Amino acid sequence: MNVFGVDIGGSGIKGAPVNLEHGELAEPRHKVLTPQPATPDGVAGCVAEVVRHFGWTGPVGVTFPGVVTGSTIRTAANVDKGWIDVDAGRLLGDRLDGLPVTVLNDADAAGIAEMAFGAGKGRKGTVVMLTLGTGIGSALFADGRLVPNTELGHLELKGHDAEKRASSKAREDEQLSWEHWATKRLQKYLAHVEMLFSPELFIIGGGISRKADKFLPLIEGVRAEIVPAKLQNDAGIVGAAMAARAAAVRVG
Ligand code: BGC
Repeated sequence: MNVFGVDIGGSGIKGAPVNLEHGELAEPRHKVLTPQPATPDGVAGCVAEVVRHFGWTGPVGVTFPGVVTGSTIRTAANVDKGWIDVDAGRLLGDRLDGLPVTVLNDADAAGIAEMAFGAGKGRKGTVVMLTLGTGIGSALFADGRLVPNTELGHLELKGHDAEKRASSKAREDEQLSWEHWATKRLQKYLAHVEMLFSPELFIIGGGISRKADKFLPLIEGVRAEIVPAKLQNDAGIVGAAMAARAAAVRVG
C-alpha cells in the first residue's frame, strides 16, 4: 500500500508516495524551497504543490517542526510564529480539496520510521531518537510505542536551551571543531537526557548523522548504545506516511 508523506523543514518542503511495506519512497521525492517567512498560507501552498506534482488523491501525512496536538500546531520555535494555534490538518486539507491530512511532529515522524524500518527495528525498552539540525527534535519510545511531543531539544543545559548549544546549527554558527562540539556539547546533552530517561538506545538523526563517524566515536561516559539513523533524509516522509495510514485505519 502507498500513502503520501510530506516533510516540512526550515529550508525545504519535500514529499513522495511511500511504499509502506518496505518503508521506502515509491517514487523520487519532489522538493520545493520553504518560503521565507514560512507563514501558514505560504507553506500550505507549497505542500499542495508537492502533493499535486504526483497527482496524488489519497491520504497525506505531513510533518511539522513543532508540537502538534490533534492536528493543531502549538509551538513554532524555528518557524513563523503565525503557525501557533493553527489547525494545520484543516488548512492543508482545504488546500488539497478535502484529502484526509494527518499532521505530526517532525522528530516523531522520523522516529516511527526508524523504529519500523531503520536503526530501532525490533528494539524494546526505552529508545530516544534525536534529530540534530537547526533545532533538536526528539522521539521517545517505550517498547516501540511513541510518547509524542517530548521536545527534549528544549531541556535546559547550562542555563541555555539545549538545542541552542548542541544542535548541528550551533556547531556551524559557532564554528566549533567536531571534537569540541561532540565532547563539550553533544556528550553533555546526551548525558543529561540519559540521567532523565535511562534509554537503552539513542538514535541520532538529522543531516549530520551522515557524518556520524566524525563525532559518535568521540562520545564517552554515556551508558546507552548510540547509533546513527538509517533512513536519513527520507525518515520524515516515511514516518508521515505511516501516521497517515494509521489515522486512515482508525477512521475505517
Ligand atoms: C522544535 C521541535 C522540533 C525540532 C526539530 C525544535 O525547535 O521545538 O518540535 O521537532 O525543533 O525540528
